Amino acid sequence: MSRLLVTGGAGFIGANFVQRAVRDHRVTVLDALTYAGDRRNLAPVADDIEFVHGDIGDAELVDRLVKQADVVVHFAAESHVDNSLGDPAPFIWTNVVGTFHVLEAVRRYDVRLHHISTDEVFGALPLDTTSRFTEETRYDPSSPYSASKASSDHLVRAWTRSYGIAATISNCANNYGPYQHVEKLIPRGITTVLTGGRPKVYGTGVNVREWTHVDDHNDAVRRILRDGRIGETYLIGSGQERSNKQVTETILRLLGKPADGYDQVADRPGHDLRYATSSDKLRTELGWSPRHVDFDSGLADTIAWYREHEPWWAEAKVATEQKYAADQSARS
Ligand code: NAD
Ligand code: DAU
Repeated sequence: MSRLLVTGGAGFIGANFVQRAVRDHRVTVLDALTYAGDRRNLAPVADDIEFVHGDIGDAELVDRLVKQADVVVHFAAESHVDNSLGDPAPFIWTNVVGTFHVLEAVRRYDVRLHHISTDEVFGALPLDTTSRFTEETRYDPSSPYSASKASSDHLVRAWTRSYGIAATISNCANNYGPYQHVEKLIPRGITTVLTGGRPKVYGTGVNVREWTHVDDHNDAVRRILRDGRIGETYLIGSGQERSNKQVTETILRLLGKPADGYDQVADRPGHDLRYATSSDKLRTELGWSPRHVDFDSGLADTIAWYREHEPWWAEAKVATEQKYAADQSARS
């Protein structure tokens, strides 16, 4: 049983990863419990893990925990584009400086690292093509969030090339599934309808995202940890592209509401038009393929989860909508 240090393990993707990882590994979670982190996400495995409440910007703490690990899976990040537009500072602190401390520690103790990143580092694709990002696509981030993630990827690559650390990187498309914070499009739309409101679509809703179930993302991460080639980058994506308008209409339909029961609101500044990945390398080299290929069915399961877990999201929903209301009045 190898010893895994999972940063950001109390967040959406990290918690889903940890819940499965305890079957095969001794897991330590390091998480700062920001607004996006929640100990309840780890309740099903609370007795099986060591939980450390702390910041990846704390170099001494990171050093001590990395020293005791065989592998670091680095999920911790500020993850929300809209927040990064309002206040980029925590994004630089966590995504750039925090990643730097993780890298220095894995370098000191020769510990294997897998760095979790995003397809947003590549910027936007045009709407009217079928082009997709590949591992060779030039970095061209649009938001403070994606620029901070791009910076972290560059640091990982430089530490691999210059210091020979044993690292891999994955860049995944948009995730959905249980435990996602209500600030994100899908849980925001679901919980808005469940509380009697109308979902908000930015601009005209033509922007396209490639929706990948969190379990498929984490399955890819496990394969990369097991068989991925050191120094390599792997793109992860389901191929399930939908416009924001389509996603919102489907949520409304699945909840028994008229498909036009949403509002168009002021657009996100610098709003990337389309993301789409080619995950051919991951599929051919590591035999990965997504299990959740029926997006509507994945969405229906996700809706069921939010219906059943109102106490998990009710408080965050109020705070999130207050924040969005302030953002919207600043935008319009
Ligand atoms: P999230 O916001 O739900 O969770 C982030 C977690 O990191 C939280 O538990 C938070 O408390 C923790 N954290 C934040 N700052 C920290 C710090 N300084 N020290 C320690 N812990 C800290 O994010 P998520 O959606 O689960 O994303 C996880 C990772 O996956 C991120 O690196 C993100 O860039 C990447 N990613 C996300 C998506 C997506 O669609 N959500 C897609 C591709 C890649
Ligand atoms: O592509 C991967 C990225 O996906 C991850 O790196 C990020 O961590 C994750 O947050 C996500 O980024 P997006 O900006 O694509 O996700 P978000 O859920 O914020 O928005 C999805 C799309 O929906 C985007 O085009 C903006 C739009 N949107 C969002 C919200 C919250 C709306 O139209 N209305 C909304 O209320």
